[in-house]
Amino acid sequence: MDISPGLTGANEGPLPAYRALVARGVLQSDPAQARAAEVLQDLWRRTRGYDPKPEEPEPGGFFSRFLRRKPVAPEEAPAGTPMGLYLVGEVGRGKSMLMDMFFATAEVERKQRIHFHDFMQGRVHRRIHAWKKEHGDTADPIPPLADSIAAEAALLCFDEFQVHDIADAMVLGRLFQALFARGTVVVATSNTTPDDLFKGKPGRDAFLPFIALIKRRLEVLVLESARDYRRERILDLPTWHMPADRRAEAALDAAFRELTGRDHGAPMKLTLLGRELEVPQAAEGVARFDFETLCGRPLGPADYLAIASQFHTLVLDGIPRLGAENFDKARRFITLVDALYEHRVKLLASAAAAPDQLYEEGDNAAMFQRTASRLHEMQSRDWRTRPHLQ
Ligand SMILES: Nc1ncnc2c1ncn2[C@@H]1O[C@H](COP(=O)(O)OP(=O)(O)O)[C@@H](O)[C@H]1O
Ligand SMILES: [Mg+2]
Repeated sequence: MDISPGLTGANEGPLPAYRALVARGVLQSDPAQARAAEVLQDLWRRTRGYDPKPEEPEPGGFFSRFLRRKPVAPEEAPAGTPMGLYLVGEVGRGKSMLMDMFFATAEVERKQRIHFHDFMQGRVHRRIHAWKKEHGDTADPIPPLADSIAAEAALLCFDEFQVHDIADAMVLGRLFQALFARGTVVVATSNTTPDDLFKGKPGRDAFLPFIALIKRRLEVLVLESARDYRRERILDLPTWHMPADRRAEAALDAAFRELTGRDHGAPMKLTLLGRELEVPQAAEGVARFDFETLCGRPLGPADYLAIASQFHTLVLDGIPRLGAENFDKARRFITLVDALYEHRVKLLASAAAAPDQLYEEGDNAAMFQRTASRLHEMQSRDWRTRPHLQ
């Protein structure tokens, strides 16, 4: 569902926009979400026209700015700074949707919305690395890093805030302190309460000041809606896209986003007896493969069963026409569909033809009939409401 372009009530903030979507029946009414929208509305009001003065940008960009930065006392927030919000809740509760509504309506000129993992990898660690290469290991990279980030955005919206590794944990406290001191407003969604971040990991003690900082500077709001809306959305998504062209790919991109809240999954490995199987993209119990990767290589029933038991949904790109010519692939595909069927995995796919027309007339065509029939059944609404069998 696309909620951002042309939001009704957008110029009055996220709450009227949310109410308008409920009134139109696009969203189901949810008291917990409405309360969160009210809190976001308050932040929207406080950030209207917000534009803290960034450091003078230098010609020559990022690196020359490093050399000229003025020291900023930590914790010295500019007066009147609106701080931000940490929105926490279980999956599928509408956290990202609400944050996106806030982001779309926010009247802040310099604003950015970014997946937190991309922010840490693509911006923070990359820039620290570049800075150290230039200035050596003893120079402190955090103040110039915060300068550059604060210059780019007065409002930063992070989706899926999470702290996985010690490298992130070590940087975050000082970076966020420096960003807050520069007046940056932060809104984040997360599955984890601040108190549970990085819990049970070695080095957690050094991370506690960051948790305290988050709780001091951001309002922490728990989104307690009773329903996992994402789980229910699979029922509305078309499952079989033909032909397997760019449009089908875009539709599967959108479906993956609907189901996981992410544009791309992360690569991962499944361990099988003495071997590892690469999954190119995985997120929230959803795996995405293209047909060649999954059926174009010598994989067997054990591999397909491992995938089927691990993931509740498979997104499969580019099933070609099958026949005597690519019989090996056809046979693997049959094995794959059997494994998916056995474990009640939901399948979203793009293909050259409908299941019945997928296998060419001729030798072995009868063998494919059961597969085609299973593929049909897997598209039914009834089948898709059944729970995954791990
Ligand atoms: N009140 C609602 N009515 C209908 N669909 C909703 C509602 N709230 C959320 N959704 C949909 O449910 C899915 C999950 O929401 P999302 O914001 O991604 O959840 P979260 O970020 O909490 O995991 C999205 O497709 C979203 O549009
Ligand atoms: Mg989300």
